[in-house]
Amino acid sequence: MLTNTIRQFITSFKMENKVIYLGCDHGGFELKEVIKKHLLDKNYKVEDVGSYTADRVDYPDYAAKVCEGVKKDEANNIGLVVCGSGIGISIAANKFKGIRCANCHDYYSALMSRKKDNCNVLSLGCRVIGEETAKIITDTFLHTPFENNNEDFNKRLEKLKEIEEKYLKA
Ligand code: RB5
Repeated sequence: MLTNTIRQFITSFKMENKVIYLGCDHGGFELKEVIKKHLLDKNYKVEDVGSYTADRVDYPDYAAKVCEGVKKDEANNIGLVVCGSGIGISIAANKFKGIRCANCHDYYSALMSRKKDNCNVLSLGCRVIGEETAKIITDTFLHTPFENNNEDFNKRLEKLKEIEEKYLKA
């Protein structure tokens, strides 16, 4: 069994290849900019797919761009989507095969979304939480590994795949 130290080493090693795709609508623009700076300051590879201004846009367009990016390398890439509430853009992201998007506004949800559900996209609501909380949630999401030695968690993820195969076309 891997010790926590070895796990952490593997996680930080994997970070080298990880690209974080960032996207938002006008409601999330302000927070997306804050998180982008936060990630760049920590030397993450960041791909900002827009929106690049606070002009009105539609969140499904930006969820799609982020999910397309994540799907380029599902084993490594991570998505981060932001809208006003985090709700609309997370619903849009979850329409994509292989995407498990969690709308998180607290530490516990961010932790569980990785540990148990192996989420690969984090959604944040700019009108719901403050910048510092959003940074903690983002860091937690990025640093928490999936507990892939847990049979129950894996079984449930397999069932999610079965639903995708049955109901999603692409
Ligand atoms: C845009 O005003 C707002 O509806 C959007 O950002 C988001 O909150 C939708 O869920």
